[in-house]
Amino acid sequence: MAIVIKSAKEIEAMRVSCLMAAETLLLVGEKLRAGMTTDDINTIVHEDTIRRGARPSPLNYRGFPKSVCTSVNDVVCHGIPGPQVLKDGDIINVDVTTFYGGFHGDTSATFYVGTPSPEARRVVETARRSLDLGIEQVKDGARLGDIGAAIQEYVEGQGCSVVRDFVGHGIGRVFHEDPQVKHYGKRGAGERMKAGMIFTIEPMVNLGRWEVEVDPKDKWTVTTADGSLSAQFEHTILVTKSGYEVLTKRPKPLRMSENVATIML
Ligand code: MF3
Ligand code: CO
Ligand code: CO
Repeated sequence: MAIVIKSAKEIEAMRVSCLMAAETLLLVGEKLRAGMTTDDINTIVHEDTIRRGARPSPLNYRGFPKSVCTSVNDVVCHGIPGPQVLKDGDIINVDVTTFYGGFHGDTSATFYVGTPSPEARRVVETARRSLDLGIEQVKDGARLGDIGAAIQEYVEGQGCSVVRDFVGHGIGRVFHEDPQVKHYGKRGAGERMKAGMIFTIEPMVNLGRWEVEVDPKDKWTVTTADGSLSAQFEHTILVTKSGYEVLTKRPKPLRMSENVATIML
């Protein structure tokens, strides 16, 4: 399948759905606290999305049963919201995808519940910074491998590892389309980026080894094979002639926890 180059009109529509996803994620940051269940987060995301006249893309996507992915501690991605109660010291990735006006916007962040351990801070901060470094590689004419290489070099330099089994993806009228955006690899390898392409970058970073397992019962929940913590951040990015536009850029700082400094991008 060929990579879609979006028209000016399509890009404008993507800006709208992406801003909605970003704002819903900001709302999660404002409400999140110890004692809540992951189902409570699902309710917040579902209701905020519907209120906007949009649809939560995850709901019924390939049989996914909820409106958002909530991935706690050693859960790498695709955690299903449920009765699990969030407790002080947990980390949780909340991955919001909003479908509006015919287009999907996809963004996630990892939050601290209460006070994080030094290990939690290390894996979360490494994932956050690795996304920034990946985004800085985006430019018309650069290679997809440049993104993966920048992420992998940084993450491994911090003593963490990059998950191989899940990748960033083209996005637009379709939730997951070409290209695949690996979070590891070699500079100069892979396809050239072209102005008008839109894809996500969403590195999953493990504190221990990169290998993962999928829950054989629910067929969705992905955990680290060694039980170590995992963190992830995601943005939807437009390639431009001069570089990039972060379509899911937040209009104000994200509240990452009740008692840790906020971040911006
Ligand atoms: N939002 C995820 C991504 O970044 C995909 C979730 S698929 C779901 O690609 F079915 F689990 F929701
Ligand atoms: Co995505
Ligand atoms: Co996502």
